[in-house]
Amino acid sequence: MTDQELMTLAVAARENAYAPYSGFRVGAALLGKSGKVYSGCNVENAAYSPTNCAERTAVFKAVSEGEQEFSAIAIVGGNGDELAEFCAPCGVCRQVLAEFCDADFRVVLGTPERIKSYSFSELLPYSFGKKDLE
Ligand code: THU
Repeated sequence: MTDQELMTLAVAARENAYAPYSGFRVGAALLGKSGKVYSGCNVENAAYSPTNCAERTAVFKAVSEGEQEFSAIAIVGGNGDELAEFCAPCGVCRQVLAEFCDADFRVVLGTPERIKSYSFSELLPYSFGKKDLE
């Protein structure tokens, strides 16, 4: 699975975004080490705080289906039908990803026309994780 293909799946996942309050629609595609891809979109709520980001939707779907090891995630977002140049994962999603992803996990951002790829350790250096509880 190339970064470009994963990005295309994130764009498709964004179609299902439920964002009536912010209007900011996000899609994610998470590649499991099995080769399976788990899509996710943001799911907002009238009470606001129960809102779930696209990245966490994808992670929770994957873990609930029995997969816990991942190679990469692509993320796209933007207002309405517009795709932003860059949609970085929020801090909460970075922490959730840290639970399951190695330092070399790839985070694919940008747009299908201009892809930028980062290692997870670039996005969340010095993270707190299960190693700290051992
Ligand atoms: N959002 C995501 O889905 N992922 C992020 O990493 C950043 C924010 C969503 C949450 C909310 O529905 C909307 O974008 C505006 O914050």
